[in-house]
Amino acid sequence: MKQALTPSRQEVMLFLEKEVELTGSKYLSSIETNWQPGELLPVASNESFFEEVKILQGQAENMDYDLLAVLVGDTITEEALPTYETWLGALEGVKQNVHGGWMKWIRSWTAEENRHGDVLNRYLYLCGRIDMPKFEASTQFLIADGFDLDTNNDPYRTFMYTSFQELATNISHRRVATLSKKSGNTMLSKICGLVAADEARHANAYISFINRIFEIDTNEMMLAFEDMMRKKIVMPAQALRELGGEINTFANFSDAAQRLGVYTAVDYVNIMRDLIKEWNIESLTGLKENGEKARDYIMKLPDRMARISERIAIPDRELKFSWIIG
Ligand SMILES: [Fe+2]
Ligand SMILES: [Fe+2]
Repeated sequence: MKQALTPSRQEVMLFLEKEVELTGSKYLSSIETNWQPGELLPVASNESFFEEVKILQGQAENMDYDLLAVLVGDTITEEALPTYETWLGALEGVKQNVHGGWMKWIRSWTAEENRHGDVLNRYLYLCGRIDMPKFEASTQFLIADGFDLDTNNDPYRTFMYTSFQELATNISHRRVATLSKKSGNTMLSKICGLVAADEARHANAYISFINRIFEIDTNEMMLAFEDMMRKKIVMPAQALRELGGEINTFANFSDAAQRLGVYTAVDYVNIMRDLIKEWNIESLTGLKENGEKARDYIMKLPDRMARISERIAIPDRELKFSWIIG
């Protein structure tokens, strides 16, 4: 059911806009000193370009098929950034002042995130194992299809989602970094490690926004948290698809990620536990009856989901993605 933003939520967001204007930048790196994709990959203007590409391709040669597929899926997810920026820029209580703290935050966050798709895309382009037009078509599909997370342009629900999602991407990029390093792929490992560190900072930002909302509007925030947990945090690439009508692309991508331990149902439960702790859900006071009920639901959820996740069997079947050559 679509709900308009209640005046109190609008007021809370307007109040916090001034704070975010002052504090948002502490969760971002300065552009002057920030890493850029061009520093991490061979650059065509360098004399040693072809030698460097050879080293890169040598490191990528033995990369596990599933891991490469997960990397492509992660890259497409990052490349769908225009969808996320549009989604955030439409939020009630956020969109009203183009030069206000919230919109400034969204632009600066987007600017940092934009490097992720760039660096990973260029890595895939250079590694020599990717059918580029197929991979690029999947990116175009995902952006054109968009996504609907049923957050109803509500900043409480949306920033709850982004808190969760930034933690999830931190985990998955970090694990790809570790697995790449194990296979001797130091270049990719460094890239994914840096991307993961950005995601961790972004997670802290969104967690801090929600923390403030909990302080100011405890009951409403609890209801929003419960609502998102009931809906489940679906991945932004849920609608992932491939050229030629390949079916189940997202399911295949997700199976590969689970099989490798890059992102699993256990991680989902652990993120939930972390957020419950971060936001002191257990000890918050001043809840109304429906807020108390929402808290009960949230507090019991991790154990319930952990029991379910124990029973989930990861299918052991051969996966095929059009993005990968061979
Ligand atoms: Fe990212
Ligand atoms: Fe992110």
